[in-house]
Amino acid sequence: MMLAPNPETGLRAEALSVGYGDRAVLERVALHLPRGGITALVGPNGSGKSTLLKALARIMAPSGGTVLLEGQAIARLPSAEVARRLAVLPQAPVAPAGMTVAELVEQGRYPHAGPLRMLRRQDHDAIRDALAATGMTGFAGRALDELSGGERQRAWIALTLAQDTPWLLLDEPTTFLDIGHQLEVLELVARLNRERGITVLMVLHDLAQAARFADRLVVLHGGRLHSEGPPGTVLTPAMLAEVFRIEARIIPDAETGRPHMLPIRHLPDGAPAC
Ligand SMILES: Nc1ncnc2c1ncn2[C@@H]1O[C@H](COP(=O)(O)OP(=O)(O)OP(=O)(O)O)[C@@H](O)[C@H]1O
Ligand SMILES: [Mg+2]
Repeated sequence: MMLAPNPETGLRAEALSVGYGDRAVLERVALHLPRGGITALVGPNGSGKSTLLKALARIMAPSGGTVLLEGQAIARLPSAEVARRLAVLPQAPVAPAGMTVAELVEQGRYPHAGPLRMLRRQDHDAIRDALAATGMTGFAGRALDELSGGERQRAWIALTLAQDTPWLLLDEPTTFLDIGHQLEVLELVARLNRERGITVLMVLHDLAQAARFADRLVVLHGGRLHSEGPPGTVLTPAMLAEVFRIEARIIPDAETGRPHMLPIRHLPDGAPAC
């Protein structure tokens, strides 16, 4: 039988199971991220968000199931090809000691360079743009290990931008950032999505920011997909009670119409979920 070319344009996880050694974390997760949107992945600590992101980005091999990037099994694609299509910001990235911001951001261009890893004019342009977009131009010559947590986080975001990929997977891109820089990063993500058509999946803990900046929420709970959909349908008192064990009030934002969340209290263990 001839296999027809797969016209699918999204990122798809099918029956994805992932674990560490004998410890199963994700169990048969099915997820489809269509091209073009901003999806926020939310869930309590330890629910498997980073593990899912790593499996989607091929940093971790699944113990079962498949990840399809635009219809192709990601496990079978060459690494440079994956890096040209998908950039990932891990939760706790580590760089070699002494590496400067410019050297880090440069790494984003090597998947595009030829075998001699010679950077061309368009590579230098992409590095300059990525540094400017993250407000890191003035830090280019500084060593990463001599930056504040927020400055370092922005340098890593610059690396993913320099990679210039149609897919962006960000694990807690706003941690370590003050509220001004948090909004700056989220607005940058929204702009990249709007102006360059970049599809974004980002892990966020702030549910109000997730509801405001993402058009879709995916909720993980205990390694399983709990719910997914537009913020207005997913961010409910019942979900917050069941998944996050909190009582909260949901208020529609007068300006955006998106749901706002007012946390009231943590629910003691054993209390009914709603
Ligand atoms: N390297 C590892 N080895 C063993 N277990 C791990 C490892 N990394 C994570 N885990 C476990 O896998 C589960 C899911 O972890 P994961 O990092 O995906 O959670 P998360 O949802 O990203 O949490 P957080 O919000 O705290 O970042 C947790 O129970 C965690 O203890
Ligand atoms: Mg995590």
